[in-house]
Amino acid sequence: MKVLATYSIKGGVGKTTTAVNLAHETAAAGSRVLLWDLDPQGAATFFVRVKPSVKGGAERLVSHSGSLAANIRATDDPAVHIVPADFSLRHLDLELDDTKHPTRRLAALLEPIADRYDVALLDCAPGITLTSESVFGAADALIVPTIPTTLSERTLDQLANFLAGQPSAPMLLPFASMLDRRKRLQRDLVAHLMRDFPGFLPTAIPNASVIEQMGVERAPVAAFAPTSAAATAFRQLWADIAAHVWS
Ligand SMILES: Nc1ncnc2c1ncn2[C@@H]1O[C@H](COP(=O)(O)OP(=O)(O)OP(=O)(O)O)[C@@H](O)[C@H]1O
Ligand SMILES: [Mg+2]
Repeated sequence: MKVLATYSIKGGVGKTTTAVNLAHETAAAGSRVLLWDLDPQGAATFFVRVKPSVKGGAERLVSHSGSLAANIRATDDPAVHIVPADFSLRHLDLELDDTKHPTRRLAALLEPIADRYDVALLDCAPGITLTSESVFGAADALIVPTIPTTLSERTLDQLANFLAGQPSAPMLLPFASMLDRRKRLQRDLVAHLMRDFPGFLPTAIPNASVIEQMGVERAPVAAFAPTSAAATAFRQLWADIAAHVWS
């Protein structure tokens, strides 16, 4: 099982949108997928129409008796299961801090179900916290939605520098999120990142109203607008990621 995380220090950049659409694309390509919602906001849980609930809360989940298997739920897509979030995850950092090896804890939780899935997709809350470090300890790759602005590029550099100082860091796979091609500054910045930032993926996700509609449809774009440019872009993004992760 490969472990991928949609992750960014920044909030509101498209992590959850990407996780839900990539889960769909991965399943459509024939994989068994486990989506793990690690954000107390529970947005990924909402998108796949599952009740927000963690058995015994974050405290039980990271304790010795905690298990992912007990928390797995089915979704409308038979190939996609989810470990839903609930509000107790707001204490996840504190609960992890009480464990012996906090940065290995999420990896240890994933291990027993590793033969049940081909891909685990972790949807992270924004920030760089102890939970993030535990995600870094579990993930093969970080999928980082990057809005084409100078400040986003700066934050991406901060992340790359942090990971460079870690003994075993996941692969860093950023991509352009919410790209508005009408804006020259955005086009130029994306061209520069694709050329110069190692691992920056060649597919950009456009800023598109059909993506915003996911909140109303509560489904991935491909489920209600399969021929849209956005659905095509997510399919292509999955192909980019797969080429890196299974190379
Ligand atoms: N490519 C896009 N085009 C237009 N709107 C988008 C796009 N991607 C995401 N959005 C919208 O932007 C908002 C934030 O997206 P999303 O929730 O995926 O970000 P996030 O990084 O997961 O946020 P958070 O940090 O709060 O978890 C949502 O309203 C979503 O519908
Ligand atoms: Mg989110």
